[in-house]
Amino acid sequence: MNVADFGDRYRERIWETHIAEDFERDVLAGLSAVQKTIPSKYLYDALGSALFEAIVLLPEYDLPRRESALLERYAPHIIDRSTRRLRLLELGSGSSQKTRTLIEAAIERYGSVEYTAVDISLDAVRNAAVQLLDRYPEVTVRALVGDYFQVLGEVAPQPATLALFLGSNLGNYPGERGVAFLRAVRGALAPSDMLLLGVDLRKDRALMERAYNDDIGVTAAFSKNVLARINRDLGAEIDIGNFKHSSVFDERTGSVESYLIAACVASYSLGRGRGTVSFAAGERIHIESSHKFTHNELRVLADECGFVERGFFTDEDAAFALVLLERGEEAAKISGL
Ligand SMILES: C[S@@+](CC[C@H](N)C(=O)[O-])C[C@H]1O[C@@H](n2cnc3c(N)ncnc32)[C@H](O)[C@@H]1O
Repeated sequence: MNVADFGDRYRERIWETHIAEDFERDVLAGLSAVQKTIPSKYLYDALGSALFEAIVLLPEYDLPRRESALLERYAPHIIDRSTRRLRLLELGSGSSQKTRTLIEAAIERYGSVEYTAVDISLDAVRNAAVQLLDRYPEVTVRALVGDYFQVLGEVAPQPATLALFLGSNLGNYPGERGVAFLRAVRGALAPSDMLLLGVDLRKDRALMERAYNDDIGVTAAFSKNVLARINRDLGAEIDIGNFKHSSVFDERTGSVESYLIAACVASYSLGRGRGTVSFAAGERIHIESSHKFTHNELRVLADECGFVERGFFTDEDAAFALVLLERGEEAAKISGL
C-alpha cells in the first residue's frame, strides 16, 4: 500500500531540491568551522528516521513513553478546549505514532479531522501517512516535506489550528534558535490558535545522559548515520570506524550535547573536488543539542514569542511536560514580527 492508493485524502508538497542543496552547503560550512558541527536535521534521512523509531523503543530513552502517557490522559481535554472544529498541524511529525491519541480525540469530537504533517524526511512522512489513512477513514493528510523554516514561511494561517511540536523536538533548538522557531510557528497561526509542545524537563544528570548513551548502541548508529549520509550523498570518504558517539549534559547550555569524536588524527576527502576535512585525535563534531527545560524557562520563551500558556501538564516525577500555548493577539513587544 502507498500514499497514491488514498486519492484525494492525501496531498503532498516537497521542498526536496532545497534539502539536497542545503545539505551540501551546511555540511561543508560545518566541517570547516573551528567547532565542527552538522545540523541535527540531517540525522533524518530514510535510515536515520528508521533508527529513530528504534530509539523510541529503547528502555533508556523513556521520553516517548512519558509523553504518550500524558497524551492519553490529556488529549480529550486539549481537543475540547477549542470551540471550533480543529485542524492539526504537526511539525517534525516523524512516525505520527503518538499523534494518534490526538487524532482519535478529534475524530471522537468532530467526526473527522484534517491533519497536516511537516517533516524533512520524505520516507517518515509517507510511511506515517499510509498507516494513518489506512487506519482512520475519517482522516485527510496533507504532507509538507521540507525544513520547518521553509515550510512555515509559506503556510497561510488556517483558523482553528492546533499546532503540535512533540518528542521534545524544541530541545533541538536551544536559545535564539528556539525563539526564531516559535516566532515562525506563530507567524503560521491565526489569533487564538493553539500550540502543544512536548518537552523534556531538567532532571538528574545521570538520567538525562543515559537516555542518549544506550547500551546496545542504537543512538550511536543513529548519530554515525549522518557520516554515512555525507559519504553517500556527497561522495566523501570519511572512515566512520574512526568515530565514537558521546552525549554529555552541559550545565552551561542546560542541554545534553551529542558529539561524534575522532579517535585518531585523520584527513578525509569530501568528494568531487571539494577538498579534505582534517581531524585531530579527540576532536569532536557537534551533531545535536537536546535542551532540558524548566517550567520558568518555558514561560519566558512563550512570552517572548507571543504565546500565552494555557496549560502545563506533567507526570508525577516532573520528568516530561505537555505545554499548551495560545497564540496571543498582542505583538507589540515582539521585535521582528
Ligand atoms: C525527535 S524526532 C520526533 C518525531 C516525532 N514527532 C516523535 O515525537 O516521535 C524529530 C522529527 O523532526 C524532523 N525534523 C528534524 N529537523 C527538522 C527540520 N529542520 N525541519 C523539518 N523536520 C525536521 C525529523 O525528520 C524527525 O521526524
